[in-house]
Amino acid sequence: MQHTRIAAAIAVSLALAACGGGGGTNTAFTPGTGTAPAPSPAPAPSPAPGTSPAPAPGTAPAPSPAPEPEPTAKVLLEQRFTSLSDLPAGWVRPAANKGTVGVRDGSLYIDGRADSFAMTAVALPPALAELSNYRIDVVFTFEAANNTARWGSVMYRSSAATATPAYEPYHQFAIRQNATASNGTEFALRKAGAWTVQATKAFGSAIDSAKTYTATVIVHGNRARHYLDNVLMHDVTLDAVAPARGGIGLQTAGLLMRVDSIKVSEQLKPLPDIATPAALQDTGTAAAMAPTLVQPMAANTNLAASGASNALFRIDSTLSLRSANGESLGSLAQYLADRNRATAPVLRVADDATVDALARYAQENDLGDVTLLSDQVSLLARARGLMPMARAAVDFSGSGLLDASTQSVMQVVSATNKARAKIAVLPPVMTQRATVAQLQRLLITAWAASSATTPSEAAQVLTTGVNGVLASDGSVFARVMRQLPANTLLRKPLVIGHRGMPQGTGDENTLASAQAAVDAGADVVENDIYLTSDKHLVIMHDDTVDRTTNGTGRIESMTLAQVKQLRTKVGNREVPTLQEYFSAFKGRPVTHFIELKSSNAGLVAQLKNELDAAGTRDQAVAISFLGDQLKRAGQTLPELSTGLLNSNADASDPQVAVRDILAAVQPYSSTDNPAYGGLSQGAMEAGKHRGITFWPWTVNDQAAFHRLYSWGTHGITTDYAFWARDFPVEIATAATATVGVNTAVTLPVTLTTQVGGSIAAQSNVMAVIDGTAPFVQSAEGDLRFTAAGTAVVLPGYRHKMGDGTYSYVIVAKPVSLTVR
Ligand code: G3P
Ligand code: CA
Repeated sequence: MQHTRIAAAIAVSLALAACGGGGGTNTAFTPGTGTAPAPSPAPAPSPAPGTSPAPAPGTAPAPSPAPEPEPTAKVLLEQRFTSLSDLPAGWVRPAANKGTVGVRDGSLYIDGRADSFAMTAVALPPALAELSNYRIDVVFTFEAANNTARWGSVMYRSSAATATPAYEPYHQFAIRQNATASNGTEFALRKAGAWTVQATKAFGSAIDSAKTYTATVIVHGNRARHYLDNVLMHDVTLDAVAPARGGIGLQTAGLLMRVDSIKVSEQLKPLPDIATPAALQDTGTAAAMAPTLVQPMAANTNLAASGASNALFRIDSTLSLRSANGESLGSLAQYLADRNRATAPVLRVADDATVDALARYAQENDLGDVTLLSDQVSLLARARGLMPMARAAVDFSGSGLLDASTQSVMQVVSATNKARAKIAVLPPVMTQRATVAQLQRLLITAWAASSATTPSEAAQVLTTGVNGVLASDGSVFARVMRQLPANTLLRKPLVIGHRGMPQGTGDENTLASAQAAVDAGADVVENDIYLTSDKHLVIMHDDTVDRTTNGTGRIESMTLAQVKQLRTKVGNREVPTLQEYFSAFKGRPVTHFIELKSSNAGLVAQLKNELDAAGTRDQAVAISFLGDQLKRAGQTLPELSTGLLNSNADASDPQVAVRDILAAVQPYSSTDNPAYGGLSQGAMEAGKHRGITFWPWTVNDQAAFHRLYSWGTHGITTDYAFWARDFPVEIATAATATVGVNTAVTLPVTLTTQVGGSIAAQSNVMAVIDGTAPFVQSAEGDLRFTAAGTAVVLPGYRHKMGDGTYSYVIVAKPVSLTVR
């Protein structure tokens, strides 16, 4: 197969954009869980090792089916409900139930429709609570639901009925009626009346009341797997919070679940260990979310000294690794098997044969922590289809057609998304602060290709704010990064006005609210969209107009004219259209985070129409909780960046967390947009080496806002965009200066605030990155040179937020000092 290189791909993408065409190179891409459920499950045997056929080009490997029940395992309970009129002996209805649990017509009914959020449960006989390792198979359907987000679940390892609250803590496998949502199935822990969701995954279809499904939970030791109709949904490690042995139950929230049978068997065989990504070395910098380093490998490369977290190899169809010059560097298998490995591989692929060989390898081996690099967009898109867990990076560094213009930025965004990649490796001409920022606002992870040999050259690259550097000599970058003060932010967190800026305006999702956010310095305005009955996109959070306007009813049942008659309750304002948002901010440095809130199948197609009509693709990204809508966006708008909204909580081990995050975002080639309470600094730092960017919501606690800002999160969504209006975000100073020996060194700087204000100040912290003049520096960063000479410094400014618990530093470009 011929794959177009970057230049041709760009030409193609422009032609498609010009004629309004979609499609692109990724239409064959299918996220891993997109298989239709079989009505009556019949587990297929696992393929024998080494016998898997090569997947056909463009098809993903089959998902792992649930294993057959172990033939020698004791069946502990096998319950059907035919000829019963009430619960079987020993089964218990918890006193806290909101709804009803009963047996009729040969089935068990757990009717939780009385309350959409509080649960209605049934506990299996208490004797099962003595067990640790078991397998549960439940044949069920959802007959009715209050709304599509309501769920039913299998509870396991539950505590005693006498615990407070009863049965807590416990784990559960939850399934929503709309199982296709990105959180359509969940692995969750219930403890002290609250949920922690540690894994979510979309199933291929919503639960159909006319069909039955099998939910399978296998738990052994600290490991569990959840299957829905034999499709592996979660493969997880249990944090030691719930008991190591414990009971079984079923429950619902807001729906009617019918259970036809349940079987519990002993689980004799341990589940295999989970492959977690390697813990990677870092430069040892104190900067927050400093760029990851990628070191091209050669026979004599000292990887440890480079400080690099990623090792770049060429790879061929024999899966041999080579340097750029063709030196043999062993095999991929040897590299991955190295127990002392502290780097992740970046593999430069050049042809289909290599991609096919990698896909065959991935069927039997863990390829969940590799980045594939190429300048061929369609080759990467094909590789992502075959290996959904492999990441992709598009190499633009050799393209002579790009420059720092918005047109080039959009070419990079478009080609990166069509490759189903997140990472773009930039040519030097695009490695500029404004260009990098423009790409990042559009959710692209920007890596610079650099041949810097001096600290000053490296600092020029680092201060552009790139997320990574593919450096011919990583050690020079590591040297600079180690000099940076604690919580240095080389790139500013983007402030995202949630539904505009409801705090201060009172109104959410109105033009006034959006304008207020922009006036307060927001880089991005978030909104929620629905499709009117006459096919216009309008902005509203809820699916009815009741809460925020003077009207009632479902917004998608109204025409645009009807929506326009409404007025908001607080500000007496109109409900805006997406087109009005586009017009209001066109050509201004404002990005729209367009949340695909409606599950309407026509929503994304209309978004494409409206983006084309407005000519605002350079200001738009789509975000959603809905896996179906993100899939549609991938198909209909393959050039558009997307973010996966989720409520997942990071596992305490950063390596487990990063594996879970990759499992969530890779099917959509999206960023990670989690509820902020679940986001950990360890996961962010581990994730950055994999090109993941983090966009937590909705940070309405000011201390948490300051904490996440100081951690260097990529974006921060808040109702209080004005909290950051006076934060310094840029710092400039003269390129040269003369300073005296034995005097405290400080330089005049100009600070620019988030809202664009200019402040004359003195640097209050300094990084010395090169030079001949000897110096002493206090722990606080105060600097004195002790003899004459030269120095290269990065003048910095530490800004304390709020009460000073959290602070961050911004640094200027390198300054050459003469010391005398
Ligand atoms: O942008 C994330 C956030 O908006 C998600 O929650 O309910 O406010 O749309 P919600
Ligand atoms: Ca939203």
